[in-house]
Amino acid sequence: MAFETILTEIDDHIGTIRLNRPDALNALNAQLLQELGKALASMDDNDKVRVIILTGSEKAFAAGADIKEMSDKSFVEMFGSDYFGPEVEAMLKVRKPIIAAVAGYALGGGCELAMMCDFIIAADNAKFGQPEINLGVIAGIGGTQRLTRFVGKSKSMEMHLTGRMMDADEAERSGLVTRVVPAKDLMADAQKTAAKIAEKSPLSVLAAKEAVNRAYETTLREGLLFERRLFHAMFATEDQTEGMQAFAEKRTPQFRGN
Ligand code: CAA
Repeated sequence: MAFETILTEIDDHIGTIRLNRPDALNALNAQLLQELGKALASMDDNDKVRVIILTGSEKAFAAGADIKEMSDKSFVEMFGSDYFGPEVEAMLKVRKPIIAAVAGYALGGGCELAMMCDFIIAADNAKFGQPEINLGVIAGIGGTQRLTRFVGKSKSMEMHLTGRMMDADEAERSGLVTRVVPAKDLMADAQKTAAKIAEKSPLSVLAAKEAVNRAYETTLREGLLFERRLFHAMFATEDQTEGMQAFAEKRTPQFRGN
């Protein structure tokens, strides 16, 4: 598939997607989000891919939705086209894990895109923020909801109301990112993490992602039941037999995804 705003690569079960609009700090325009949706769907369907890394450049993961593309739009155009709605839905359909490897700016839609991934590894130069308030609007692809769940109401509210940025250390302290690494090591760290996930049973990886995400969608009791049923269902797989036999035999399991 030929794309103009992203670069894609598949190697050793890891699919990598790099946002690539350097002149606009990877601002998310409609074309980029459509291409990203297609690339993600194609990797989700591809048996060679077990885990996906989404990244940007050293200067910017993404500096937000493309302000220049949006600036002249009317309410009728935004609401009528459900601007960014279908693209966001496409991303939420992806069943394989997506790791966000974030260096530089992750602002507005860029921060929201990182939060839509399954977890975030941040470079030490990463800066997160929801500065839409400075443009006379508010976050539009999940910021008010997701940032609040990651970092709590007080910090999220302050960030949305002041538009200030959060550096990588604060993002780690607040639970927004899983860890911070030196910028030069970001991709190596993300690849190492992805490789660890790629070794596991692909079925348990899908189930774990579904179950953790359910924690955001339902009550604790329903979530616990969902988890328990998925756990039971894993006992219908050969990977469960293999994983437990390998443990007893003190060898590395060979998971086949069945
Ligand atoms: N949209 C369009 N173009 C953008 C952009 C954006 N979000 N962010 C940066 N650019 C462009 C700049 O216009 C500039 O282009 P030109 O060279 O053609 O002028 C180029 O990228 C480089 O940017 P700067 O010169 O501004 O770089 P800097 O290093 O001085 O500043 C920055 C970096 C602090 C990130 C600054 O670019 C900035 O504040 N960007 C906007 C951040 C923002 O407001 N994001 C929220 C967008 S709205 C949104 O995301 C809504 C939503 O939730 C869906």
